Amino acid sequence: MANPIITLEHVTRTFRVKRETIKAVDDVSLDIHEGEIVCLVGESGCGKTTTGKMLAGVLPISAGKILYRGKDIARLSGRDHKQFRLGVQMIHQDPYASLNPAHTIAAIIAAPLQHHGLTRGEAQTQARVRELLALVDLTPPDDFLEKFPHQLSGGQRQRVSIARALTVNPSFIVADEAVSMVDVSIRISLLNTLTKLKTAMGLGVLFITHDLALAKYFAWEGRVGVMYLGRLVELAPARQLVEQPQHPYTQVLLSAIPEADPEITRHKRRIELRSMDVPSLLRLPTGCAFHPRCPQFLGATCERDVPELLAAHGARVACHLVSRQ
Ligand SMILES: Nc1ncnc2c1ncn2[C@@H]1O[C@H](COP(=O)(O)OP(=O)(O)OP(=O)(O)O)[C@@H](O)[C@H]1O
Ligand SMILES: [Mg+2]
Repeated sequence: MANPIITLEHVTRTFRVKRETIKAVDDVSLDIHEGEIVCLVGESGCGKTTTGKMLAGVLPISAGKILYRGKDIARLSGRDHKQFRLGVQMIHQDPYASLNPAHTIAAIIAAPLQHHGLTRGEAQTQARVRELLALVDLTPPDDFLEKFPHQLSGGQRQRVSIARALTVNPSFIVADEAVSMVDVSIRISLLNTLTKLKTAMGLGVLFITHDLALAKYFAWEGRVGVMYLGRLVELAPARQLVEQPQHPYTQVLLSAIPEADPEITRHKRRIELRSMDVPSLLRLPTGCAFHPRCPQFLGATCERDVPELLAAHGARVACHLVSRQ
């Protein structure tokens, strides 16, 4: 396979909380290739956003290394640094907070084009703005140019923030809960737009969501990484993760997804956790952090040793129970 566009090597991020140090992201290693979709899933607070922000270069790491096209992002300078800054763009959960309410949609999209000298002259800028709006399915573009963010629906605003991210011709997008704020009815059409862009532009995407059903839909051709309390616990091609989940936590998450057919959902066996309480990062359980809730808890090994993310049947899994054959 071609060289990875993004590489995370043992990346850790700590924060000071109540005079103590928490590991929001702990020893995460991951390669993402050109044009690939990787989805990060897991419960609230497991470190998804922190991982995405570090990868996009907007949050420094505490330990480890992040490489962009093979180069350490902490050491980039000059042209390489600019290429990384423009090449990796982040789309946030709440487009309302990130779009200037005083500017028209045309001005919001035109600003980065002009700032980075990507278009020459007013006519070319306007033409590119229209093209980008059409690309994110805001059509006809003329209906949106003179509108302000508050005059659009949540889904339309999110499309504007995607168009703005595309102004600088990125090769990689971090989409953090990019469809979580919009109504369920328009979620799929927004996901379809993202999929279309990915294919048309060869974009790599890190898609962050707490909803495994969404991950399954969006990343079906890609890979899914499951996080638990700051660590990656399973990383596998999406189909494999769904059809043969290996980590007990992945199995629990999958068993909780409703199926399209309510009859199937009603009879679906939900795997019960040993405990419903999510431990605090301030007081992490020893050994495998999932052991107090794990339905397959083995005993001393799980309590004592932190499982590493190791190869297992075409996936990578951090669990003492999983066979490595
Ligand atoms: N700036 C910060 N200062 C202190 N703690 C932080 C900071 N940012 C994140 N954290 C903590 O790090 C942990 C991981 O947070 P993060 O936002 O990455 O989780 P998440 O998986 O994105 O959750 P959610 O699904 O709720 O968005 C949480 O315990 C959070 O409280
Ligand atoms: Mg988050």
